Amino acid sequence: MFARDMAAALTAFPKSLPCCYFYDRLGARLFEAICELPEYYLTRAEDEILRAHAEEIAALFPRSTELVELGSGSAAKTRLLIEAFLRRRTLKRYVPLDICRSALEETSSDLVRAYPTLEVFAIAGEYREALHHLSATAGSCKLILWLGSNIGNLERSEAGRFLGQIRDTLAPGDGVLIGIDLRKDSAAVEAAYDDAGGVTAAFNRNLLARINRELGGHFDLRTFQHRARYDAEVGRVEMYLVSDRRQQVAIDHLRLEVPFVAGEAIHTENSYKYSLAEIETLAATARMRCRRTWFDSERRFSLNLFTAGELAR
Ligand code: AVJ
Repeated sequence: MFARDMAAALTAFPKSLPCCYFYDRLGARLFEAICELPEYYLTRAEDEILRAHAEEIAALFPRSTELVELGSGSAAKTRLLIEAFLRRRTLKRYVPLDICRSALEETSSDLVRAYPTLEVFAIAGEYREALHHLSATAGSCKLILWLGSNIGNLERSEAGRFLGQIRDTLAPGDGVLIGIDLRKDSAAVEAAYDDAGGVTAAFNRNLLARINRELGGHFDLRTFQHRARYDAEVGRVEMYLVSDRRQQVAIDHLRLEVPFVAGEAIHTENSYKYSLAEIETLAATARMRCRRTWFDSERRFSLNLFTAGELAR
């Protein structure tokens, strides 16, 4: 999978690497460090919203409810929701799904230790695994969590299509809670993706380090510069690794020599930001309705509840 995708990505023009491969064990740790950065406002803003509204959200799901989380990571913010449901005794079980197996195992055992009555059913895999799970467990009341603006990695059309597939597994009363970063001025966004301490740069370069570790790559990380630019018109941050010189990089296990010209960029990630109108369009594309939107005090970030039908109350 990794080998095949990397071979395809590095021989394409322009070069681009799928961002799901950021999250090996080290990458997941680096992302946790990003969440602590003063520049990375997303995590704190969403945390503020959940602190203020977790009770209110839990109250919208009065029956025994399964919480299914897409891209659970450390599930730090999710604890606010888990605790709100536990207090109301309406939590049936928590189903975290993550591409990083080590993060998933660590998070699941931490949660089971912290909440002895909690049932956890962890799924290691990509988002499409969630669709299998959701269609297999149709019938029980569900709240699907897609937090942290993870949706931003998908093209807008892909996001709408994926949510449409999720929608087809929902019963009346179910919901999807989506954390979405909002469009804002370029300076604040670019700082969040190019922090002064260089943590995001290290996170980005880890993709090449991972090729070195797992595929016998010979990337000299010092020759690839981290670049993040916000395209305000399109509403997305684009991340790149830019070769500062002309060079050839051997990747032994792929039996590949990858040529770079000076200044050539590898595209590593897109992170889409949304306007409120774009959130409405997203819901419509997915044949859902956006029932509620909550904001942080600075209106940088939004938490949105989508439903297919009426809520139980
Ligand atoms: C995990 C996709 C939400 O796009 O903000 C953070 C990943 N990349 N800094 C984001 C990321 C660079 C993050 N998501």
